[in-house]
Amino acid sequence: MYLLDPILLTSLSLIFGLVHSQDPIPNPEKCLQPLIPSNQQICPSLLPKRLPTPQNNQKPLQDDFNHPYDHSNLDDEFALDDEYHLPPPWHGPTSCISSYCLYSNPSLSISLFTTPKNAYLTSQFPLPSPKNRKVISPSSFYEAQIPGKGIGLIANRTIHKGEIIMQRIPTLLIQAIPHSTYSDRTKETLYKKALELLPEDTQQKFMRQYGNNITAKVDKNSFRMLTDHDPKAEGESEHFAVFPDVSRINHDCRPNLHYRLQNHTHTTVAVRDISPGEELTLSYIYGQSLYSTRQAHLQQIWGFPCTCSQCSLPSLLSQASDARIREIRNLEKEIEEKMARNNGIEIKPEMAGRLVKLYLDERLEAYMAPTYTRAALIYSMFGDEAKAMEYAKEAVEALEREHGEDNGDAESMKEMLRNLKGHWSWRIKVRPPLGSSGEAKEKKKGTVRRAPVANRTKSGI
Ligand SMILES: *[C@@H]1O[C@H](CO)[C@@H](O)[C@H](O)[C@H]1NC(C)=O
Ligand SMILES: *[C@@H]1O[C@H](CO)[C@@H](O)[C@H](O)[C@H]1NC(C)=O
Ligand SMILES: *[C@@H]1O[C@H](CO)[C@@H](O)[C@H](O)[C@H]1NC(C)=O
Ligand SMILES: *[C@@H]1O[C@H](CO)[C@@H](O)[C@H](O)[C@H]1NC(C)=O
Repeated sequence: MYLLDPILLTSLSLIFGLVHSQDPIPNPEKCLQPLIPSNQQICPSLLPKRLPTPQNNQKPLQDDFNHPYDHSNLDDEFALDDEYHLPPPWHGPTSCISSYCLYSNPSLSISLFTTPKNAYLTSQFPLPSPKNRKVISPSSFYEAQIPGKGIGLIANRTIHKGEIIMQRIPTLLIQAIPHSTYSDRTKETLYKKALELLPEDTQQKFMRQYGNNITAKVDKNSFRMLTDHDPKAEGESEHFAVFPDVSRINHDCRPNLHYRLQNHTHTTVAVRDISPGEELTLSYIYGQSLYSTRQAHLQQIWGFPCTCSQCSLPSLLSQASDARIREIRNLEKEIEEKMARNNGIEIKPEMAGRLVKLYLDERLEAYMAPTYTRAALIYSMFGDEAKAMEYAKEAVEALEREHGEDNGDAESMKEMLRNLKGHWSWRIKVRPPLGSSGEAKEKKKGTVRRAPVANRTKSGI
């Protein structure tokens, strides 16, 4: 019997645990959905759990926000002003309330209302590379009036899977705590000031977004963005980021685009080939939820019924879709449980292949990375070279679409493509025939090889 070593076992459970937690798919229960669609309201979970206690040094609201940067308002941490000094051409801090101030960089068309530390972190983020060859030209799509949806984006040529539609940094970036605690009037005054620091065309693009006033536009068009991935910093690092160009993209439960937010860069990638004339779409909700849940969520949280292609299916097809989603959930749970039990001997590689098929049949192309990665690993564990290679290739592409190019799991999948038989997962579940001395032979031949632990990625691949 090939026993898995404890580290491998841990990493195996991480495959499923961690890939999931890294997964950008929002969890409907927790309402982690970072996108606040253009005609909806804030996802309740985006509000900080713990509201800050009112500080006695918090300035009362005045019409004039231009009081100077006041160190006495700042926490000790921020009093070390120089540490968070923003290099030119950044402006700020101005218009401070408590430890939050306005900062801007008009040449990048970005304004912030946040703490000195967060402003500093944001100013240090690398900008999207103008030389990225995967980013398509803006003439590859155009704006048009979409019946029942307002303005949307339409492909002007075939856009291929993996091509990047746009990469943007926010126009407005607002710390979540003041946004969820300050009065409407304070916010409106501040955000107006923040916008006025930016070029005229940027202001116009911002104002074209859905919402009655600037604050409402922030509420209805923001993505949740963290400036710092240290879990301890979460409350402080949580921001609302508004990308007016991205706000043009309408919702579909079976979107043809996937987005990722890395630092302050928002990237939208095609997840399947898109034909000329087809609308470009992103999903505002959790794709793998049942029809009734999708309806309830869109209606309750965002106030509009789900009318996307997947929600408008005739009832037989809609039932088939729900059945597939149930099967996906059951199968994922089953694989996870079996993987954690008896060294995974009850797993059958066909389960992984079936899962890929269900995802594709259900048109969930935007969320393929964990499924392809899992399939490549499981087929490799059972020594199915052709299928392991096929899925590893798909996994690399999906991981890069969903998580970006410098992705550890993508690296590991590339490693598998280069040298499947040297990958730690290769044939670790293949058992020698009973009664033979296969085990000893195999061991001598060194079929069971494992890469050093250091070569495994975070998610255990
Ligand atoms: C995020 O920003 C940090 C520096 O602030 C940088 O080291 C890192 O490479 C950035 N990540 C990406 C994906 O751009
Ligand atoms: C569509 O692409 C063609 C060239 O391929 C270009 O001439 C045209 O202006 C584009 N249309 C729009 C609306 O961008
Ligand atoms: C902005 O619009 C929202 C929603 O229509 C409203 O509740 C809010 O009071 C408005 N804010 C201001 C400052 O008028
Ligand atoms: C493991 O990583 C080392 C470098 O850290 C590299 O030389 C080696 O080829 C890798 N092996 C595998 C199997 O990935």
